[in-house]
Amino acid sequence: MSPRAPVNEPVAGNYFVAAYPPFSAWDAAQVASLHEALQEPAPGKPLGVYVHLPFCQKKCDYCYYLSYIAQPAAVVDQYLKAVLRESAFYAEHPGVKGRPLSFAYLGGGTPSSLNSTQVRRLVDGLRQRLFWNGIEEVTFECAPRSVRREFLETLREVGVTRLSMGVQSFDDELLRLNGRVHLAEDVGRAYLLIREADFAWVNLDLMCGLLGETEAKWQASVRQVIELEPDSVTIYQTEIPHNTKLYRDLKAGDLPAAPISWEVKRARLDAGFRELERAGYTIVSAYNAVKDPRRHRFLYQDYLWRGVDMLGLGVAAFGYFGGVHAQNEITLEQYEAAVARGEVPVKRAFRLSAHDQMVREFVLQLKLGEVPLAPFRERFGADLATVFAKPLQGLAAEGWLTILPEFVRLTRPGLLRVDRLLSRFYALQFRDIRYT
Ligand SMILES: C[S@@+](CC[C@H](N)C(=O)[O-])C[C@H]1O[C@@H](n2cnc3c(N)ncnc32)[C@H](O)[C@@H]1O
Ligand code: SF4
Repeated sequence: MSPRAPVNEPVAGNYFVAAYPPFSAWDAAQVASLHEALQEPAPGKPLGVYVHLPFCQKKCDYCYYLSYIAQPAAVVDQYLKAVLRESAFYAEHPGVKGRPLSFAYLGGGTPSSLNSTQVRRLVDGLRQRLFWNGIEEVTFECAPRSVRREFLETLREVGVTRLSMGVQSFDDELLRLNGRVHLAEDVGRAYLLIREADFAWVNLDLMCGLLGETEAKWQASVRQVIELEPDSVTIYQTEIPHNTKLYRDLKAGDLPAAPISWEVKRARLDAGFRELERAGYTIVSAYNAVKDPRRHRFLYQDYLWRGVDMLGLGVAAFGYFGGVHAQNEITLEQYEAAVARGEVPVKRAFRLSAHDQMVREFVLQLKLGEVPLAPFRERFGADLATVFAKPLQGLAAEGWLTILPEFVRLTRPGLLRVDRLLSRFYALQFRDIRYT
């Protein structure tokens, strides 16, 4: 998952919106706002932490996440030291001191490319510096080839509750064509080990619209993921961001197959969702199908999309604190150098006005498919049906949503393209600017 700051893909379609205002509006001049926010005590408010672990065995052709490939253990060790030092800076601030963590998200890159000793050192170090006891949700991302039994036991011991594995497809030809290192048999092997380790929540990621995908291959992948019975399935529509091999090959006219159109990707996602619903899953957002929504509520997403504070630790990590967006330095060298100087290593930030916060929470929550209006009245004193009357009526007339007395509810076609619709709610100055 995050830090999700995809570069706009060549043809605007449905690229994942992770923040409002768009990243291109954030700047170095506003970093001071984060420092101010950190000085404000906020007792009783939930707090989370995201840790970016930017290491992978190989770069996948479509991937836009910041990651460093095949790094020796010493590089990872040095990085983890910097992350812990960074967490200690935050822990000293009145805004963080004594606040218990509600959730943690260890994302990448491929966090499972760490070894057990490194994971223990990281989590024990975070426990010593931040108030970790009583944490409700700890997510850890992994890739199939790097899953091994002893490592999973370590994850259980350090308190991981939600394990998320990137499967993408069960078709070996597609996996190879898109530059994955794993094959379908690796997924089967890893999944058995994961189930034996008995995590409270196992999520599997699929991507629809991978290069070379056919309808039959997509259907087969959906069937196979259902056979594994994970607690949830996340499906991303494949984006082609500028900083990927896929994009470079596309521009050079070197692709072995034509990229799949957004219309087809949406249709395949729709078919996938229907199949998952037939198998008993509930669609809880534009990306997620969950087996038992009462047991599996994704705190990281729910909290973040409702304005809860989250510290972002690590290179390029995103945080949101006291109404201020922040992103860390975006290369390992700059990040580690800033931490070594004793600085909070934030590169750019944006302080949101109360109106910006309201727009942010509304557009992010629209990705859940249904937004209740009462909490916005309570929090912002605003009636969104009035504030957003024009875009809401426009989107309703186009068939993407329904306006109910107390809710805004997306139709299924609206949900499948939700990221594309969100800019209608943006303040004018943010509407036509670059995303990153
Ligand atoms: C950090 S990775 C997950 C863990 C691990 N690195 C892996 O790939 O198995 C997060 C997820 O983002 C999704 N993703 C990456 N690049 C994408 C793209 N260009 N378009 C859509 N989804 C993408 C993939 O589904 C991937 O599983
Ligand atoms: S393994 Fe995951 S994070 Fe690493 S390059 Fe592939 S998709 Fe990106």
